[in-house]
Amino acid sequence: MRVLVTGAAGFIGSCFVRLLLAEQPSSEVLNFDKLTYAGNLENLSSISLDPRYRFVHGDICDGELVDRVFTEWKPDVVVHFAAESHVDRSIFSPLPVVETNVRGTFTLLEAARAHRLSRFLHVSTDEVYGSLDPPLEADEAFPLQPSSPYSASKAASDLLALSYVKTYRLPVIVTRASNNYGPYQFPEKLIPLMISNALEDVPLPVYGDGMQVRDWLFVEDHCRAILTLVEHGREGETYNIGGNRSLPNLEVVRKILEATGRPENLIRYVTDRPGHDRRYALSSEKLIRETGWQPLISFEDGLAQTVEWYRSNPEWVNHVKSGEYRTYYALNYENR
Ligand code: NAD
Ligand code: DAU
Repeated sequence: MRVLVTGAAGFIGSCFVRLLLAEQPSSEVLNFDKLTYAGNLENLSSISLDPRYRFVHGDICDGELVDRVFTEWKPDVVVHFAAESHVDRSIFSPLPVVETNVRGTFTLLEAARAHRLSRFLHVSTDEVYGSLDPPLEADEAFPLQPSSPYSASKAASDLLALSYVKTYRLPVIVTRASNNYGPYQFPEKLIPLMISNALEDVPLPVYGDGMQVRDWLFVEDHCRAILTLVEHGREGETYNIGGNRSLPNLEVVRKILEATGRPENLIRYVTDRPGHDRRYALSSEKLIRETGWQPLISFEDGLAQTVEWYRSNPEWVNHVKSGEYRTYYALNYENR
């Protein structure tokens, strides 16, 4: 397989590329990435010299460049991760989110339509279902009720991708995963931010009352599900991918304090996120039934591995936390 992976310098995309090259000796990968603040080629240092890997620096909104890559490299499969992925940033600055997540997805779909492909896997999120009161769980037919510019842009791109199945017979699959965590995650998201702050003895900012619920999925489990669906998923279908481990944020933060040996009084309750979704919950029954996939890493093991990774990689952390991160941190957390 020749696999074009967009956004492979990011957290999940880089994990997917490492997994793909390890599991499929005859596959080749082209990483197409703009290298925004979240894109970091260090995430791929373990495979960057592999002759089956190549990198093109580019924006998925650049139709000419995208088309040239399709024409010259002739991918069989596209796995589309590239996105502006952070809810808080989408609240401060929605335009880049709409540009990349909606227009960028459209540009890729148009290129895919003009070339022959066996699969276009569009990576999306459980956030498109919005906040669900217990005991509800979203299956793939659940109404889309996004709350933030980020989740609305992902819902828009899901619908666009699915429209290309009906209209142009493009072999699209949409996946909707729950909250990922693991090594190489940019420390703007809950788990890496709390680990990195705890390791530096800096306060841990919990939004509102900290009782919002998320379902936690170890990044390698997510990437195994995507690889399984590239091979065995059904065209035109949507698949939820959940970790089957729902926890309130406060419990996650307390586990991080325990794992890092830091005291409870590092927690700071800060002003809530506008439009904050109270609870995400999804059913992965369809994926499990059709493919036999299961999440393999328990939250306790995954969190221990993740804490250890951040503890052992201070250069990576210091690098990504220098420069732009400081400006973002001040904007989001000062006077909150
Ligand atoms: P990330 O922010 O770590 O990485 C995004 C990558 O996309 C970066 O390498 C960035 O440089 C690249 N990118 C951004 N804009 C681009 C553009 N215009 N052109 C080319 N490249 C561009 O994101 P992530 O957490 O790895 O998420 C990957 C995908 O998975 C996203 O589509 C996200 O919506 C989805 N998702 C994420 C989670 C999660 O918990 N992180 C859960 C479910 C779904
Ligand atoms: O559900 C999947 C989604 O999960 C993905 O589509 C998104 O790309 C990803 O960013 C994530 O979105 P969330 O908003 O759920 O993740 P985040 O890590 O930003 O926040 C998780 C929870 O923790 C949420 O309830 C907000 C809270 N939080 C977050 C941060 C960064 C805090 O209390 N304090 C914080 O500093």
